[in-house]
Amino acid sequence: MLKIESAVKTFFKGTPNEHTALDHVSLSLENGEFVTLVGSNGAGKSTLFNAICGSFMLDGGAVMLDGKDITYQPDYRRAADIGRVFQDPMKGTAPNLTIEENLALAYSRKKKHAFSLAVNKRDIAYFRERLAAMDMGLEDRMKTKVGLLSGGQRQVVTLLMCTLNMPKLLLLDEHTAALDPQTSDKIMKITNDIVKENNLTTMMITHNLNAALRTGTRTVMMDSGKVILDISGSERDGMTLNDLLEMYSQKSDKQFDNDRMLLTKDRSE
Ligand SMILES: Nc1ncnc2c1ncn2[C@@H]1O[C@H](COP(=O)(O)OP(=O)(O)O)[C@@H](O)[C@H]1O
Ligand SMILES: [Mg+2]
Repeated sequence: MLKIESAVKTFFKGTPNEHTALDHVSLSLENGEFVTLVGSNGAGKSTLFNAICGSFMLDGGAVMLDGKDITYQPDYRRAADIGRVFQDPMKGTAPNLTIEENLALAYSRKKKHAFSLAVNKRDIAYFRERLAAMDMGLEDRMKTKVGLLSGGQRQVVTLLMCTLNMPKLLLLDEHTAALDPQTSDKIMKITNDIVKENNLTTMMITHNLNAALRTGTRTVMMDSGKVILDISGSERDGMTLNDLLEMYSQKSDKQFDNDRMLLTKDRSE
């Protein structure tokens, strides 16, 4: 489904600030696989997502999606196939448009004609049904401007917008990190439901190592622009947070330096 072959990205090349954010990253995802992606701050996780989405061109390597080489495809051409949710609930939705209008815009992308705010009764019924399934009470607020919603509610609308058209790939970049713990749990449940129901091939970046091991089918760890760990199946099933931290120290020769992750650890243990 997704195949990244030896991706290289160097920022500020040829200057004293030169920094290789992706250092020959190779990764393959099967159809329907749900990978959690972890690593210290600055490991290159978001840069990998940017490379997949075409936010910049790679310096080396290739990205294949569904058998097609998209390495040189511009980001707007990839957007229909790749849904992406960011950490910031302000991104992803238009605050001055209603829930219904935001969803209609996203939905119209699939249809061949231009972006449209026009919604027909059948679309509205479909949006209502999808929102009701998420159990956030949003199906009764479809005429509410998105800017008036809470962060968690906005993330739900963004998630739905990203998945209305069945993307080939769903990328979640710490999409619950800005939410309070209770809302974060709720959004994670909704995320799991959407991924399962639609058998979506998914990558989720999270700083919460517990959540990374519990969620999805496989966990990949990055450090200094490289993939240093890739675990799935029974090896992953039996793994504890401490095992994972230990493996990180062994592979990278340092301690995991993510303060937020350590806070999360305190809370959940
Ligand atoms: N657009 C950019 N310009 C320059 N440096 C960047 C850019 N994007 C990321 N970087 C650098 O690349 C490294 C990896 O960043 P990032 O992928 O955001 O890390 P992560 O998401 O794992 O925390 C960091 O050192 C960061 O400063
Ligand atoms: Mg990041």
